[in-house]
Amino acid sequence: MHSVLTIYVKRFAMELEILKNYKLNIDRIDYEHYVLFSSLEELNSKIISNICTVEDFNTFFEMFSRHVKYEEAYMFSINYPYLGEHFRQHVNMLEAFRKSFIVNANDAIKNRYEISKIEALLLDHIDHHDLQIGNYVNEKLIK
Ligand SMILES: [Fe+2]
Ligand SMILES: [Fe+2]
Repeated sequence: MHSVLTIYVKRFAMELEILKNYKLNIDRIDYEHYVLFSSLEELNSKIISNICTVEDFNTFFEMFSRHVKYEEAYMFSINYPYLGEHFRQHVNMLEAFRKSFIVNANDAIKNRYEISKIEALLLDHIDHHDLQIGNYVNEKLIK
């Protein structure tokens, strides 16, 4: 059984990790990543308290879709050379998230499992793809 304190400690640890290790040094994108992870933790808390609704999932999905659109427009604006591959990754993630949320909207145990999968996917994507945008920007000294 998770206590409220455990949830807060976990959230705090994750926020610190994101701030420290997954920073692109592109303010808006960094902020949006932080908000996405905070929202996933919020969803986890709601699932534990049994007050999670389909709308909560939809809100996260829309937030993620908006983030992806902004990131793609940003990459386009700086002539980022690996656009195609990055776009494909976003499409795959949107598809994976959509499946996770629709199939399991009323199953708390499954939902927590799906959310940890989504967190892992998101971290992996930032680590392997988004951080490359930051490297490119820093190399070319564009902002
Ligand atoms: Fe991305
Ligand atoms: Fe991103």
